[in-house]
Amino acid sequence: MLLRRRSTTAVMLQEPGPDENALAHIIAAGTRVPDHRRVVPYRFVTFTGAARDAFGEVLGTAFMANNPEAEAEAVALEKNRFLRAPTVVAVIASLKPEHKTPVWEQTLTVGAVCHNMLLAASALGFAGQWLTEWYAYDATVAGALELGSDEQVAGFMYFGTAKEDPKERPRVEPATLVTAWSREDGQGS
Ligand SMILES: Cc1cc2nc3c(=O)[nH]c(=O)nc-3n(C[C@H](O)[C@H](O)[C@H](O)COP(=O)(O)O)c2cc1C
Repeated sequence: MLLRRRSTTAVMLQEPGPDENALAHIIAAGTRVPDHRRVVPYRFVTFTGAARDAFGEVLGTAFMANNPEAEAEAVALEKNRFLRAPTVVAVIASLKPEHKTPVWEQTLTVGAVCHNMLLAASALGFAGQWLTEWYAYDATVAGALELGSDEQVAGFMYFGTAKEDPKERPRVEPATLVTAWSREDGQGS
């Protein structure tokens, strides 16, 4: 299954999304990650049902602030971003710079959280996509998510049922990325 893993783009997601139990399972899988010294450098914000539409107001306001000349159609598209999928989960990196574990390692843990969630959703028969888009980096959106000074959006995880199976895409040849270290190489000869 892992060798066939694919994301399903948000526009190709439809109902049903994960119900309350399935979503709790996906989030629990997200917490089941390697985490050096148990920092737990992440948290989750869920968007289901009407909350997706309500958050559209935040997205629309932020987009208009950045693009005052934007046509109504473009603003409407931005407002509807979370409506593309039944469920969206914002994974927030809550980094602890004062902790003995380097922020780099904490960041790696948060990436693992996001990917574990995708894998768990897939195992339950759902599809998903990890997106950041522009609004992961927007100050207005950060304010609405009440991000602290050491927090950042790691991803908006979109979950639902795939309208159709995604096509395969070109993949890197794994062997081209692998070198087997030997003592001779290490000595530069
Ligand atoms: C941190 C992160 C952010 C991403 N943000 C976007 C994005 O904003 N837009 C996008 O089209 N794909 C984004 N992607 C890529 C998709 O999640 C996905 O990997 C891509 O659609 C390719 O599909 P695949 O996972 O089946 O290879 C992001 C991936 C990561 C890891």
